[in-house]
Amino acid sequence: MNDKQVSLIKNSWKTFRTMDPQIVGDLFYSKLFVDHPELRRMFPADVKQQHSKFVDMLSFIVSRLDEFEELTADIAAMAKRHVGYGVKTQHYPLVGKALFWTLKQGFGKSWTPELEEAWVTCYASISATMIKASA
Ligand code: HEM
Repeated sequence: MNDKQVSLIKNSWKTFRTMDPQIVGDLFYSKLFVDHPELRRMFPADVKQQHSKFVDMLSFIVSRLDEFEELTADIAAMAKRHVGYGVKTQHYPLVGKALFWTLKQGFGKSWTPELEEAWVTCYASISATMIKASA
């Protein structure tokens, strides 16, 4: 991720945080489970709690993007917990797709190709770190 992408993501995150987390969460999980119903059983019946955890973790990562190396240990620990949830390597791109789709709905016209590329690069770095730590 280059410096411009880091600042694009940080600015977009400020906007994202002004959106209603419940609505964004509903969008994200609805999209994920409509596209991949087989993933539903991994999650608790009530995913409301889960949504805030996901947003909080992304928020934590976004706020420290420029010191990404220092986050590796935390991301690796999270990855190991994910192995326990039954998450496999092939699930990461599916979650990524639902995440980008959700961001696109939320940002509307402000979802530019540059912003999309920055988020795709960011998610790719996090998921690559998680996948490596899961092995
Ligand atoms: C960048 C990628 C991801 C991030 C930042 C993330 C974040 C989180 C966080 C913060 C939690 C709360 C519990 C914990 O920290 O262990 C969690 C739980 C969970 N995540 Fe992820 N996750 C990611 C990718 C995935 C993927 C690819 C899947 C596959 C479907 C997945 C499925 C789950 C499940 C099943 C739980 C546990 C639900 C529960 O029992 O409460 N996550 N995730």
